[in-house]
Amino acid sequence: MSDIIINGGRRLSGEISIQGAKNSVLPVLAATLLCGGESVIHNCPGLSDVATSVKILKHLGCRCEKENNTITVDAGEVSGCDIPDKLMREMRSSVVFLGAVIGRTGRAVISSPGGCELGPRPIDLHLSALERMGVTIREEHGYLNCTAENGLRGAEIHLGFPSVGATENIILAAATAEGDTVIHNAAKEPEISDLADFLNRAGARIYGSGSDTINIYGVEHLGGTEHTIIPDRIAAATYMACAAVTGGRITLENMMPSHMVSILWSFKECGCGVVSCGKSVTVTSPERLRRIPTVRSLVYPGFPTDAGPIAVAMLSVADGTSVFVENIFENRFRYVDELKRFGAKIKTEGKTAVIEGVNRLSGAECKATDLRGGAALVIAALCAEGESRIGEIHHIERGYDDIVKTLKGVGADINYSRE
Ligand code: UD1
Repeated sequence: MSDIIINGGRRLSGEISIQGAKNSVLPVLAATLLCGGESVIHNCPGLSDVATSVKILKHLGCRCEKENNTITVDAGEVSGCDIPDKLMREMRSSVVFLGAVIGRTGRAVISSPGGCELGPRPIDLHLSALERMGVTIREEHGYLNCTAENGLRGAEIHLGFPSVGATENIILAAATAEGDTVIHNAAKEPEISDLADFLNRAGARIYGSGSDTINIYGVEHLGGTEHTIIPDRIAAATYMACAAVTGGRITLENMMPSHMVSILWSFKECGCGVVSCGKSVTVTSPERLRRIPTVRSLVYPGFPTDAGPIAVAMLSVADGTSVFVENIFENRFRYVDELKRFGAKIKTEGKTAVIEGVNRLSGAECKATDLRGGAALVIAALCAEGESRIGEIHHIERGYDDIVKTLKGVGADINYSRE
């Protein structure tokens, strides 16, 4: 596995076309299982998590073909209902297959997702909702054995927290359940609406996605359909930050600025010029980034937890002290120790990071601790003086479609190491 080598200090300029959203393509690929025919999904980013989803679909008996950014899934014959532990471990979000597999086969056997790099990631909300829909769940030897003996039935569900993954699993299970389902306090993220749009095209009847109450009227069967994945708002935020810290000017194409209001607002607060025009946004950086007194991660439309590490990296070179409060995950600051290797001055306590902006960072050897934490290191390295080496880049490849090529295209001195 190679590392990423960056010689910092180059001013970035040019255009970047934003990849399809990781957090949309994974549930949509899982949803293709529910469709009795062939689904054609466009704008699929080239990510290791997408490759893992395809492996899971093939393991379950689907025929999958990939041509450029289009994946065709023929789910006419589904032969399995288990997801091997190895594939579950490759991709934590494989838990989103749970609702789809039960919806299609009436059974699912998956290994328990357990803890991960962001701290414990419980799935109690997913499981209790499925139980309400007629699923019996037995936990044995680290495996979850789920059976809907009398079929799935619609239910009224109130989520104690608007969990993105739980909302997706309930939508998937409810789409072809008998009767109607209502989700109260549902997640409102744009990726939920993308999943609902895909399923509705395939014949589902899902209303209210994007709001906190979603109604799903179960239909007998779904057919294959064609769908284009929405742009990735977190990848967009990452590339905007790369421009912002290097004194650059980048135009991002194929974006959905309306999905990024809180992110765009934060860039403006930092003193960046942000001009949206249709599906493009141009970001211009100021002489010196301004501090932001407090940024808090919240559920959509609040500031996304996934953009937290990106904001922290940016604020580490701002003109004063900023505070970032992580409200979604318990253990999301592991990357901070790596950022400190660049000379960033950050103190964390519990869910709070206090970032004292420094004039300049210096090149460092570091390791990605998780996907977005890895992106934070790329941002730091781009503005640091001298050479940086980032290891464990498999984390970054889970969510960014060839980040090296993309950043090279706008003038970064970035390469894979040769050994
Ligand atoms: C989260 C993010 C999502 C992001 C994704 C990928 C939020 C609300 N969700 O989604 O935007 O795209 O990570 O990084 O920002 N929880 C439980 N029990 C459950 C499910 C969740 O207690 O059954 C808790 C989690 O521990 C966490 C919070 O709810 O504290 C958010 O979880 P959830 O939205 O489900 O996470 P993801 O679906 O992974």
